[in-house]
Amino acid sequence: MHTRKLGPDLEVSAIGLGAMGMSMSYGPNPGDRDDMIGVLRYAVDHGITFIDTAEVYGPYVNEELVGEAIAPIRDRVVVATKFGWNIVDGRMQGTDSRPEQIRRVADASLKRLGVDAIDLFYQHRVDPNVPIEDVAGTVGELVAEGKVKHFGLSEAGAGTIRRAHAVFPVTAVQSEYSLWTRDPEAEVLPTLEELGIGFVPFSPLGKGFFTGTVTPGRPFAPGEVRATVPRFEPENLAANQALLDRVTAVATERGASSAQVALAWLLGRAPFIVPIPGTRRRERIDENTAATTVALSADDMADLDALVDTVGVAGNRYGEAGMKMVGL
Ligand SMILES: NC(=O)c1ccc[n+]([C@@H]2O[C@H](COP(=O)([O-])OP(=O)(O)OC[C@H]3O[C@@H](n4cnc5c(N)ncnc54)[C@H](OP(=O)(O)O)[C@@H]3O)[C@@H](O)[C@H]2O)c1
Repeated sequence: MHTRKLGPDLEVSAIGLGAMGMSMSYGPNPGDRDDMIGVLRYAVDHGITFIDTAEVYGPYVNEELVGEAIAPIRDRVVVATKFGWNIVDGRMQGTDSRPEQIRRVADASLKRLGVDAIDLFYQHRVDPNVPIEDVAGTVGELVAEGKVKHFGLSEAGAGTIRRAHAVFPVTAVQSEYSLWTRDPEAEVLPTLEELGIGFVPFSPLGKGFFTGTVTPGRPFAPGEVRATVPRFEPENLAANQALLDRVTAVATERGASSAQVALAWLLGRAPFIVPIPGTRRRERIDENTAATTVALSADDMADLDALVDTVGVAGNRYGEAGMKMVGL
């Protein structure tokens, strides 16, 4: 697979792998822990060099899983993880990006991942109680100490990105971005382009929606995040099928799958974009990485760009609790 650059010098595969679903959010895994380690190694053997995890996934166990998977192949993987939550008895209790907490998490993540340095350390959500300058300064110190290589932000606004970048260079911003979640286009993407910062869309397949596998009437497993997302409520899901139909039409014309078109569209939006689709299945890793070979025409891109405006999206991207968490 070809590579892309995040910021001036962090080179990663054009498509990465989100590991979150192996420990939470998408119901029972299709295999046991060893199988998931196998999937992570399969991904690296098939060209993926960028793996995304976070302290809070599990919590903790996702980093341990990724750490075990990459132990024999550390030199071939760029590992990204995230800090910024107050986790009490395994539950998120609001944000915490105080400098001492960032340092604690860095040390604990280094241990769980079994690495000497975290390649990319994101603040998971902006902390309203800690100035972003203090966060950037603390990560900058961790970089100087050799514990962290690159600094990232997640779901940060353009103003916050600028303030952080002025204190310590931001290499990448990770936010939700997909055919039906277009918020970063207004301010964040132009800011990143101007400042030379990379962009990592999370939930790039619309939490699986654009794969065509989430059909109206399909029950969600206990604990599945989609059961809490308004867009997946039966009435909204039925209305949103019109979006999927349009993507499927492009896919059929290009001899690709709808998931591949969703990813190819993201890749086509800008050269500094690196999506991280999440999957726990080898065959889907093959399918998703092959999106880099799908050639969308300028007309395809224009049609897909206009999708949300022409068809509309029914339902929010988060439920009420989730909206609060992302500061909406
Ligand atoms: N920064 C943040 O706040 C934040 C928030 C959410 C997620 N993330 C990161 O972003 C990553 C990706 O996001 P996400 O997992 O929420 O959403 P996603 O990548 O849009 O979708 C994941 C879903 O799609 C399914 N899937 C993947 N490829 C498929 C294919 N080719 N065909 C059919 N189904 C397919 C997966 O099922 P299977 O696993 O069963 O294949 C899973 O149900 C996460 O793993 C995490 O690392 C970050």
